[in-house]
Amino acid sequence: MAWLVTRYDDVVGVLRDQRLAKNPLSARSAAEHAKEQWIPALLKPLARNMLDLDAPDHTRLRALVQQAFTLRLIEQLRPRVETLTDELLTKAQRDGRIELLSQYALPVPLTIIGELLGIPRQDQQLFHRWSNRLVSLASTTDLIRALPALWFFLRYIRKLIAQRRAEPRNDLVSALVQAEQAGDRLSEDELLAMIVLLLIAGHETTVNLIASGTLALLQHPEQCERLRSDPALIKSAVEELVRYVSPVELATERYACAELTIAGMTIRRGELVLGVIGSANRDETHFPAPDTLDLARSTNRHVAFGLGAHFCLGAPLARLEAQIAITTLLDRWPNLRLAVPPTALRWRKNAFLRGLQALPLSF
Ligand code: HEM
Repeated sequence: MAWLVTRYDDVVGVLRDQRLAKNPLSARSAAEHAKEQWIPALLKPLARNMLDLDAPDHTRLRALVQQAFTLRLIEQLRPRVETLTDELLTKAQRDGRIELLSQYALPVPLTIIGELLGIPRQDQQLFHRWSNRLVSLASTTDLIRALPALWFFLRYIRKLIAQRRAEPRNDLVSALVQAEQAGDRLSEDELLAMIVLLLIAGHETTVNLIASGTLALLQHPEQCERLRSDPALIKSAVEELVRYVSPVELATERYACAELTIAGMTIRRGELVLGVIGSANRDETHFPAPDTLDLARSTNRHVAFGLGAHFCLGAPLARLEAQIAITTLLDRWPNLRLAVPPTALRWRKNAFLRGLQALPLSF
């Protein structure tokens, strides 16, 4: 059972409240937790990822990778993202059609996070298939079915770690391996969990900002025209699109460490609380005309990237990728349009990540 918190102010409260722990074991005994949620031994090391931990472990782990994701460093990726988006569109050019999700929205963040971490290019689709299994788990049955794929995924990452340990390169996996070797800053489980988190968070979210954001623009032609005629609007446009489409619809799990009250409801110790980001981002007390897409919205304090200690580490990267991907796409094809009726579009069945299954476009 979980509490869903939906109003903007309450969601902000949930994301900031230190009485709500990310690590379930700060709020429940191991036995209590095992009764609520079964985790196979294979996946136990992944619980040591920073998004599922609290201070001081969270602070230590985040500090290890924070420098790699600063605005300044991420901005240096601009030429690479521009070349990549151009190449992907050129490949699709002669077909007159593009399935935007698999041919563009996915390969952009997948290639960039793969290159940052140092995953060989030929393996990137492979790890996407595995990571997609991991983020699509909705039940214990799904989990059991996905176990072989997850086993291959973790074996692959362990091999990559061993390779970089033997022969370090100029990539994030090598830097993390060196931090692990340097002593007690990062355990082996934490190293594995960090790489898996960065791989997954680094592309399973941005893909949906690019694809659902493009769909929102095509469904609001006057806003799309506004952006085309004023490309400088792109930064504010991406902020509005991320609010409007909320690719991470639910914030991740938080557990009450003590009895507390949210919006007049009593939450007992150990209970699970989920902030509904998609709902907070459309709260009319904070966003005038919340269901209107306004690319020049003046105050836009959305919570699409979370808030507080776990605020999205990759927000500068996601913003850069989406700004470039959307600009390049609109520049290239002035006549871009849906290739199927809107009613034919299907959304993925996933409580946390909201995204399309496919987005066929013609140009
Ligand atoms: C549009 C794209 C993205 C969206 C909407 C998004 C959203 C979020 C949200 C809402 C959280 C906080 C979850 C919570 O508190 O429960 C988060 C955390 C995180 N995100 Fe993102 N994210 C995006 C892209 C990325 C990218 C490109 C990376 C690259 C590595 C990334 C890495 C992370 C990490 C590591 C955390 C955990 C931070 C911590 O625990 O301190 N995200 N993200």
